[in-house]
Amino acid sequence: MTMINPMLRDTGTPPIPEAKGWLSAYDCRHGPGIDLSQAAPGSAPPDSLLARAATAAADPSGARYGAIQGDIALREALARETSGRYGAPISAQNVAITAGCNQAFVTTIMALASAGDAVLLPVPWYFNHQMTLAMLGIEARALPTTPQAGFVPDVEAARALLRDGKVRAIVLVSPNNPTGAVYPPATIAAFAGLCRETGIALVLDETYRDFMPPERDRPHHLFEAPDWRSHLIQLYSFSKAYAVPGWRLGSIIAGEAIQHEVGKVLDCIQICPARAGQSALAWGIGALTDWREANRADINSRADTFRQAMRALNGWSVDQAGAYFAYVRHPFAGVPAAQVAEMLALRWGVLALPGSYFGPGQDGHLRLAFANADEAGIRQAVSRLAQASRSA
Ligand SMILES: Cc1ncc(COP(=O)(O)O)c(C=O)c1O
Repeated sequence: MTMINPMLRDTGTPPIPEAKGWLSAYDCRHGPGIDLSQAAPGSAPPDSLLARAATAAADPSGARYGAIQGDIALREALARETSGRYGAPISAQNVAITAGCNQAFVTTIMALASAGDAVLLPVPWYFNHQMTLAMLGIEARALPTTPQAGFVPDVEAARALLRDGKVRAIVLVSPNNPTGAVYPPATIAAFAGLCRETGIALVLDETYRDFMPPERDRPHHLFEAPDWRSHLIQLYSFSKAYAVPGWRLGSIIAGEAIQHEVGKVLDCIQICPARAGQSALAWGIGALTDWREANRADINSRADTFRQAMRALNGWSVDQAGAYFAYVRHPFAGVPAAQVAEMLALRWGVLALPGSYFGPGQDGHLRLAFANADEAGIRQAVSRLAQASRSA
């Protein structure tokens, strides 16, 4: 169709529905299907948070448009929590609330780059990041990572990719989707240094930061640098930490100059973020610390269960795991990951996403979102993977 924007036509189709289709064709011969595809919280949000949202939704004043960058109560609450966690003062003026972290990414990229520019993405990448760049005509420049390095990107390799002067930003996701890698603070600091030195932005997506092990509660020290506002943009999602993906709320933390430009984009694409959830979360950030801690412990223990169960499996290798995900090398040598994932879903009722959804050169891997299943579900899934490889 000639009327369609060619850049959008050339953008890949959202991959999750294809994968869900494989699982829906499974005949339950080994028991119910186990969906380890999407990073969706497996448990419900706390009743107290739902009650706050219900009260806010029943208040007619909340039905009006709100502020473009979000209601001040939530911006202040997030600024307070972020200041405490990172040990550095962050003000509400540095915070914008968005309709989820995906929208935060689209907004940030529109504020930083335009068609013909490039943005550096470590591979494997989060597919919505690559899709966003593709539809805006921005080159997603691949920064390869290796299993040997735990899929942690190398700053000197990144530097070598900046030489033509087209790169406007480097995007890091830590804890990472899809690999689960938690980048060391020194690596994050080295990337910030490179961005500062070369005058480009570091976009740091910390959607999964609430699931880091407690000893890594401060994921990096970048906000302690007096000049962080010149180059750092931090993205966050309320979806996973509060189990509210359907509320569509996330955030951008950035310096005032960037926030000024972000405000123009947000006015066009959201006018204001949805308000009832904002009101509930403004309360929840401070009030639900214990609930979040219990949630973190639960997800960390699922990660342990997964790692332990996988140890007994011949041929499979957990090349990285952390926060929500494991990135696993499958034993079906030479078979493309999409074919392996389809076979596992159709015949064994375990849905993982193929590595090929996450960039070039990923056909040997599958992503398993173990956080979606309880401990029994994880054991059952791993036992089916064992049977699948034995019967191949
Ligand atoms: C790395 C990363 N960023 C952003 C998002 C989107 O989160 P939200 O629901 O806040 O849009 C996800 C969701 O899976 C993600 O994995």
